[in-house]
Amino acid sequence: MPEPAALALIDGQPAALPLDDRGLAYGDGLFETVLLFRGRPVWWDAHLERLARGAAALGIAAPDRRVWQDDLAALLAGPAPLAERQVLKLILTRGSSGRGYAPDRSAAARRIVQLLPAPADRPDWRRDGIVLRWCALRLAEQPRLAGLKHLNRLEQVLARAEWDDPAIAEGLLCRQDGQPVSATAANLFVVAGRRLLTPPVDRCGVAGVCRRFLLAQPEASECELDRQAVLQADELFLCNSLRGILPVARLGERVFSRGPFTRALMARLAAAEPAFAFECAG
Ligand SMILES: Cc1ncc(COP(=O)(O)O)c(C=O)c1O
Repeated sequence: MPEPAALALIDGQPAALPLDDRGLAYGDGLFETVLLFRGRPVWWDAHLERLARGAAALGIAAPDRRVWQDDLAALLAGPAPLAERQVLKLILTRGSSGRGYAPDRSAAARRIVQLLPAPADRPDWRRDGIVLRWCALRLAEQPRLAGLKHLNRLEQVLARAEWDDPAIAEGLLCRQDGQPVSATAANLFVVAGRRLLTPPVDRCGVAGVCRRFLLAQPEASECELDRQAVLQADELFLCNSLRGILPVARLGERVFSRGPFTRALMARLAAAEPAFAFECAG
């Protein structure tokens, strides 16, 4: 059966994207990828807060929550059957302008919302852990953009293009100084004894919504980590808002077990958010 076409609305209307949109021309905008669980946006507040933070940092007027909520309701009222898990993608661009970088200050921001199928479930990843590699690409540092989920994702695109082996689920990215920051589409956590550590994202990287949940755990803190610290970790996992926690089974030659700390955190996440209460979470 052909895959059903994704539903999309632009400014509330089914429409094509104007070719002078600055998101398309310059990556001048932001996005959020939200898990919809039985039609409910998971971590909705955190996603909208990050979007609002990004919009403030870029000087784009963000629509308020009600506007996004209405878009979501309109998409869910559409013809597509409600699946248990779906993805809601929000894009906010600076809107249209003439050629050149100078923004048209009178232009209205443009919002795009899309309802997409969820990525294929991988219970084996949760059970056995994933295989990671080190990416050769180094992340550039730009404190004004660090932490935001802006539309410029060429670094992640190039890093993800470094491998085709389907057995490798993700790649770790380092800063110019060699310090690990995150995976291409997930944040990184290290378990060291009773401590749960994640690299800061104040120079580059994305302040993930799932990372935010985990940083609220009593054992968790931000900490600069070098490659050695990652390789010597007791346990390692990645996280993002679509898949939750993904234990790491191997990074290069180093093999990790899906240890008790990661299992406990997966159980805590499942208890806090039913979307992550997978049957084989424990
Ligand atoms: C570069 C990058 N870092 C981190 C994350 C994790 O963010 P979140 O937990 O908000 O999904 C993502 C998600 O796609 C990402 O693309």
